[in-house]
Amino acid sequence: MFDFDKPTNRLTTHTEKWGKFDPSIIPAWVADMDFEAPKCVVDALKKRVEHGIFGYTKVDEELVDATISFIKRQHNWEIKKEWLTWVSGVVPSMNIACKMIESNQRVLTTSPIYPHFYKAPKMTGREVDIVRLTCKENRWTLDFDALEAAITPQTKLFMLCNPYNPGGTVFTCKELERLREMAKKHDLLIVSDEIHADLILNPKAKHIPIASINDDLANRTITLMAPSKTFNIAGLNCSYAIIPNPSLKRRFEKAMGKLNGGVNLLGLTAAKAAYKDGDEWLKALREYLAQNLTLVQDFVKNHPPLKLCDQDATFLAWIDCSGLKTNPYELFLEYGVALSDGKDFLGEGFVRLNFGCPKDTLKEILNRMSKALK
Ligand SMILES: Cc1ncc(COP(=O)(O)O)c(C=O)c1O
Repeated sequence: MFDFDKPTNRLTTHTEKWGKFDPSIIPAWVADMDFEAPKCVVDALKKRVEHGIFGYTKVDEELVDATISFIKRQHNWEIKKEWLTWVSGVVPSMNIACKMIESNQRVLTTSPIYPHFYKAPKMTGREVDIVRLTCKENRWTLDFDALEAAITPQTKLFMLCNPYNPGGTVFTCKELERLREMAKKHDLLIVSDEIHADLILNPKAKHIPIASINDDLANRTITLMAPSKTFNIAGLNCSYAIIPNPSLKRRFEKAMGKLNGGVNLLGLTAAKAAYKDGDEWLKALREYLAQNLTLVQDFVKNHPPLKLCDQDATFLAWIDCSGLKTNPYELFLEYGVALSDGKDFLGEGFVRLNFGCPKDTLKEILNRMSKALK
């Protein structure tokens, strides 16, 4: 019914992913997928484009209702329309959140991490402390003792990535409870980037929005979500912050001011269609991605000294290549595959492989990586 095997050609559409390298190189770096968006999204965009007038646009009630209903269906979290602020992207929201704290206050986050977690504090002139994740029972998780030790009286904001990029961890209720204790003890504001929440590949894992746990967490958390990774519409620049605490929401919107121009009307159109009618496509996508993850896991098993921890979410595999004793990014690039270089994520010796592509492409990527390792 949904053909994720269908070959796609993005070479002519000015993409970041396919435009960075020579066409002979297969890109598996930046986090978008080589799949067409769901038909309901494409149809809604066509219809909107046919109207021919693209003036300033409002977020309509139907989109808000569709968003609330999608979050309830996917994550069993009941949010209210007053909690929503629409922003052009999650990264802009991360920067806005950093601006909410005083310039002498500090941000705490973890590594390895999606680069904007450590860049946003720097961009906004705030100091950042970074604590490394730990690998326990072959799964990346938070090191709570190290986090506690890194907290100073100036620490005000904790930036969480859940599900985690890179590493694909979905934090458990127990882990989020520990975070709750930490945040309460030190009176921390939490920014929880949950952009990958809809891409849980292991049916036994469950995404729990941290703000849904209790009122204290709801009151101190800004949750960032978007349809962009889920439905492969990142180029349409549409996301939202969920902020149940009205005074925190006011502070967020004040920090944003007019520096963020809001969401473009095609982004709103696509989001509405995806949230209303995209569930079946999303279910099929998750199944396809889970199969791709198995291919990557089998490949790593057969290619020591590469290592890969267990992951429950995302289309991004965080591969430990430290045993190779050479720069893995350069090595694989030489053999025709552009992965993300671990050092950009503060993870030297690792690469991140984006397996959100048709299986034939993934097989060719793994084939080239295999040749590089011979
Ligand atoms: C964890 C995480 N947050 C944010 C983003 C980017 O969000 P946006 O494109 O909405 O700024 C990405 C993209 O890879 C991501 O992985």
